Amino acid sequence: IGKKYTARAHTNIALVKYWGKENEELIIPANSSISLTLDEFYTDTSVIFDSTLQKDLITINDEITDDKKIINFLDLIRKKAGINLYAKVESYNHVPNSAGLASSASAYASLATAGSKAAGLELSDKELSMLARRGSGSATRSIFGGFAAWNKGTDDNTSYGYSIEDPVKMDINMIAIVLNGNPKKISSRVGMKISYETSPFYDSWIKQTNDDFSTIENAIKNGDFSTLGKTAELNAMRMHSLTLSADPSYLYLNKDSLLVIEMVKTLREQGIECYYTMDAGPNVKIICQKNNIKPIINKLSNQFSQDQIKVSGPGEKVKLI
Ligand code: DP6
Repeated sequence: IGKKYTARAHTNIALVKYWGKENEELIIPANSSISLTLDEFYTDTSVIFDSTLQKDLITINDEITDDKKIINFLDLIRKKAGINLYAKVESYNHVPNSAGLASSASAYASLATAGSKAAGLELSDKELSMLARRGSGSATRSIFGGFAAWNKGTDDNTSYGYSIEDPVKMDINMIAIVLNGNPKKISSRVGMKISYETSPFYDSWIKQTNDDFSTIENAIKNGDFSTLGKTAELNAMRMHSLTLSADPSYLYLNKDSLLVIEMVKTLREQGIECYYTMDAGPNVKIICQKNNIKPIINKLSNQFSQDQIKVSGPGEKVKLI
């Protein structure tokens, strides 16, 4: 305590998506999920608990914020550590703005790691993942590198992240196409709540996504890129069908998203193996292997500029820096 700690956590892309909560306060998801942590996108967060502070001082990319979610999260850490000091938090996101790359995942994974350490706690990776989960669900998986999973569980102590494979043996990369600089209109938090409560297809999603989980878990173990890519693509579109079938209906895809999806299909017809996935925003991410990165970028360059195209490989677990 009284010492500053800095942690770096990478963001992740879900291959089996999390889309709905059984418990909103504890962030217990309705299904287990699997992701790939990414090396190019990360958040560095420093925390110090300081007896001279009169309130929490929080900055994100040097801008002051009094985000209630972050303060509640600091309260959780204080409670766990049995302290009542205010904190200074400085966070820097190395994630393209609204790239649809869930910067909340790397943000809360790094805040949980630096914050717990600064509060004098020594948490295991599993405990860190459970703490990060309370900030944002996808952060549960960002404690781990490579292929990671989030075991759904039923309560605070049984819903945690774990490593499936790190370092990753499979040749796998992700190309993000940044389509829209505007912040998303419907956050994942709100979107998944509407889907959970109103989509008549929600029960089928849970059944299907449990199958997708086993399929992708096995594909990772068998080094089967094709099955992994195909299933991740299907799972993403199954998730997006929950937005269209909700009341009110909403949609994250826009016309550029559809354009990229068509490009991926054309590339596949030309024998270039690649798959697409999307989260709570219009940006499309293409999953491919190393030798296909160049031809895919060539094709994308007809429509998009270089700075809209970001290539990433598997990333490391959270670490103190
Ligand atoms: C589509 O983790 O951002 O990226 O738990 O409410 O903070 P909260 O939601 P968040 O949702 C991520 C949704 C997703 C799929 C995924 O990452 O699994």
